[in-house]
Amino acid sequence: MLRIGIIGAGRIGKVHTQSICNYVRDAVITTIADPFITPELEQWAKQNGIANTTKNYQDILQDPNIDAVLICSSTDTHAAISLEAIAAGKHIFCEKPIDHDIGKIKAVLNALADTSIKYMVGFNRRFDHNFRAVRAAVEAGKVGKVEIVKITSRDPNPPSAEYAARSGGMFLDMTIHDFDMVRYLSGEEVEEVFVHPAVLVDPAIGEAGDVDTAVITLKLQSGALAVIDNCRRCAYGYDQRAEVFGSLGAAACGNDAASNVQVSAANGVTGEKPLFFFLERYMRAYATEVEEFIAAVVNDTPVPVDAAAGLEAVRIGIAATVSSKEGRPVKLAEIEA
Ligand SMILES: NC(=O)c1ccc[n+]([C@@H]2O[C@H](COP(=O)([O-])OP(=O)(O)OC[C@H]3O[C@@H](n4cnc5c(N)ncnc54)[C@H](O)[C@@H]3O)[C@@H](O)[C@H]2O)c1
Repeated sequence: MLRIGIIGAGRIGKVHTQSICNYVRDAVITTIADPFITPELEQWAKQNGIANTTKNYQDILQDPNIDAVLICSSTDTHAAISLEAIAAGKHIFCEKPIDHDIGKIKAVLNALADTSIKYMVGFNRRFDHNFRAVRAAVEAGKVGKVEIVKITSRDPNPPSAEYAARSGGMFLDMTIHDFDMVRYLSGEEVEEVFVHPAVLVDPAIGEAGDVDTAVITLKLQSGALAVIDNCRRCAYGYDQRAEVFGSLGAAACGNDAASNVQVSAANGVTGEKPLFFFLERYMRAYATEVEEFIAAVVNDTPVPVDAAAGLEAVRIGIAATVSSKEGRPVKLAEIEA
């Protein structure tokens, strides 16, 4: 039985905790750490059968009985806690992104070199049943040579301007998932990024120095092209679709809804809206993600999303940020590797 510590009990820390408690047989969470732990959170941990709560994640790192940690704290803590967890010999699942600073991510990669520590990054969309089926079709050669990847990624509601100001910007906070999806679905590396940014939803986001809408074109190493369209507001919910088009055909997936029932009447045909946001749409994907991390540790097999994938998505996010600010195509070669 693998013993796990959770570092950070906010939105995503709770999701991963519930997934492990509800779905994973090979692992048990022994401790949850969060500096702002409340009596309600302690009660919630107890209800989920978790023996210990602490305000100090060092209690997890120093516990010789804990084999693996999930780093679910705020982004600015990920790289430092990763380094300490590596030094403590723990296997690590780290939420995205590892950091916004390439130097700090490389320090994590360097610390991992020559260790047998498993280090996985939380790009949960790779575990979504729809996107996996698209990737499987591409991998099986059903679309032939990949020529165009199209991703639509729109959030239901914009974040506050305060959040936008400290998020690292839309490309490193939100689009980073789409950059990883382009790499995952195509199986290719990105060579160039060109962003058309806009502030169309909330002027306060623009005043905070960020954007809320963008169309992004990417050139891939084979010469194939990708297009991502992002918006921080979508009237009908969370819009998450993808298509890979190639020489032999296309593989595409739409949104998930609570049901696929259509009501047909004299005044038209109606159906369910897409599931509201990431906690609804990707709940099963989050569970598969932690299951596969734990399986990689237990069976000593490679993790499905490694630290190098975490670095690459951030490099593309930085290139997109430069392109957005300077209004020009940016080659990935310009960004530190
Ligand atoms: N993969 C995804 O779909 C996804 C979704 C949401 C968030 N995230 C990522 O997960 C991370 C957390 O996001 P969130 O939305 O859960 O944020 P959140 O603010 O809800 O939770 C973060 C928690 O970390 C705690 N924390 C801060 N410093 C800590 C420390 N030193 N030790 C232990 N706990 C600490 C905070 O008290 C808070 O409870 C972010 O990096 C975010 O990018 C990923």
